[in-house]
Parts: sequence; C-alpha cells; structure tokens
Amino acid sequence: KNISVIGVPMDLGQTRRGVDMGPSAIRYAGIVERIERLGIAVQDEGNIQIGLGERYHTDPETNLKNLKAVAKGNESLAAKVDEVIENGRFPLVLGGDHSIAIGTLAGVAKHYQNLGVIWYDAHGDLNTADTSPSGNIHGMPLAASLGLGHEVLTSIGGYSPKIKPENIVIIGARSLDEGERELIKEKGIKVYTMHEIDRLGMTKVMEETIEYLKSKTDGIHLSLDLDGLDPHDAPGVGTPVIGGISYRESHLAMEMLAEAEVITSAEFVEVNPILDEKNKTATVAVALIGSLLGDKLL
Ligand code: ARG
Ligand code: MN
Ligand code: MN
Ligand code: MN
Repeated sequence: KNISVIGVPMDLGQTRRGVDMGPSAIRYAGIVERIERLGIAVQDEGNIQIGLGERYHTDPETNLKNLKAVAKGNESLAAKVDEVIENGRFPLVLGGDHSIAIGTLAGVAKHYQNLGVIWYDAHGDLNTADTSPSGNIHGMPLAASLGLGHEVLTSIGGYSPKIKPENIVIIGARSLDEGERELIKEKGIKVYTMHEIDRLGMTKVMEETIEYLKSKTDGIHLSLDLDGLDPHDAPGVGTPVIGGISYRESHLAMEMLAEAEVITSAEFVEVNPILDEKNKTATVAVALIGSLLGDKLL
C-alpha cells in the first residue's frame, strides 16, 4: 500500500485554539520519515484549506458553532480522500479537531458497501444539535455519519448515511452525554468502555473487535482521537478525560490491527500542540501510526 498523508488544520469544531496546528506538530514529530523507515511509499499531500469565515459564530436557531466553515472544510476533505482512494492509495488523515471525521468518512465510505469503523476515543461523538451540551461539532461526527443531525452535516459528500450502527465499535469511552447513551442503546452500537478494557484486557477487546467487524465489513476505518489515551500519555488535547487507555495498551491495539491486516484508512485527531508538553502528543501519534503500519522490533 502507498500512503497519502492529508493534513486538516481544523479548529472550528470546538472552542480551544491550537488544534489547527495538529498536522504541523505531527509532521514536526517526523510522520513522513517514520513511514519511510518502514519501507512504505508515502506522499505528503499537504493541508486541506480551512476558511476563516464565520469563525466563532453560533447559529441562534440550531446552537451549532461555525456550521458553514466546518461543512465547507469537510466537503474539501471528502473530495481529497475520495481522490486518494480512487488512486489506489491509503488515506492517513491528520487533525485537527474530530469534526473532520465527517469529511474523511464521506470520502471513504462511498468506496465500500459495508464500511466498519473503530472509534478510539474517550467520547462517543454521537451528539446532534438537539442533544449536544456544547454546540461543538467535534462532538457530533459519528452521529452525522450515521445520518443523524443537521442536514448540512449529514449530507456532506452528497449522500447519507455513510455507515451503519452495527458496523461501529467504540473503544475507550468514559465520557458520554445522556443523548449519546440513549442513542447507543437504541441503535445497539458496540462499545468497550474503560470498564470493559480494564476487565477484559486490551488483547481480548481487540480480538473481539476484529472478530466482530471482520466478517461483515469490506473495509475498516480507524478514527483515533488522542484523548482516548490517558492525559498522562497524551496531554495535548482539548477535552482530556482522566482514566484513559495507556500508551502501552494503545500500541498493543495498533499492533493487533496491523497483524490482522484489516485497516483500510485512518485518521489521528485532536492533537493540540499549544496544550501539549514539548510535542509529546504528536510524538505519541507518530509512534502509534508506526505500530498501525506494521512496525515490529523483531
Ligand atoms: N460530548 C462533548 C460534546 O459534545 C465532548 C465531545 C468531545 N469530542 C471530541 N472529539 N474530543 O461537546
Ligand atoms: Mn474525544
Ligand atoms: Mn472524538
Ligand atoms: Mn497515569
């Protein structure tokens, strides 16, 4: 597989500045060199343009923040991801806040009948404008991809829905809003909260996840929010939640995905170098990507 790196300097899906510098931070931490060292051909496609218009604008009717600019950036991203896959390449998307998953999935899902999604995150990102406590679109991408929420978000890429609830696995959840919990129950979405990770161990969680998705999907997208990790290991994120997945467990998860050879696209999001400690979180992202792409010590 040849890899295309796509940067998305998006910070309009939430209210903490600096996450737009995530792609730069991950490049600075050596992402391209890391992939080249694995003997994999990689091309840096540069960044998607994110507009400045309507910045810090809350729509009074819907309570959605920066809706137009978030949608516009995601349309551009969807087109780029589509083009990369069309050219037979593996898209590796670097965020930016998690609202960009709407565009990534819009570009990816049209190439599959049954796209699987692994959502590695402290959060469910299953809010809609009606259930969101914040109005931040980075808390809504999984719902939007299921076809739920504001039409401007669900229709990105020109079709909806992108994915089915039974093809999703959420890993690392420990902060879910009331509406998200109801949706998870209503749709029967598979979730491994921190409780299950502690109880079963990451090995079992990943074995079950791969088994659950492998037979019924024809591709699996990994959407990894760095806040899925414990803030000790990944402090440079806008919405940290204590009690998260460890650095070691995360490497194990990535190594098991590499071994199973099931991941067909990936994104690493929410790296905010302004909130970080000496680029630690971007460095963790690069290390995890190395494991995901098959790095082994021996
Ligand atoms: N559930 C909260 C909200 O809707 C937090 C979402 C955090 N999402 C993220 N991608 N970090 O605002
Ligand atoms: Mn999160
Ligand atoms: Mn997220
Ligand atoms: Mn710790």
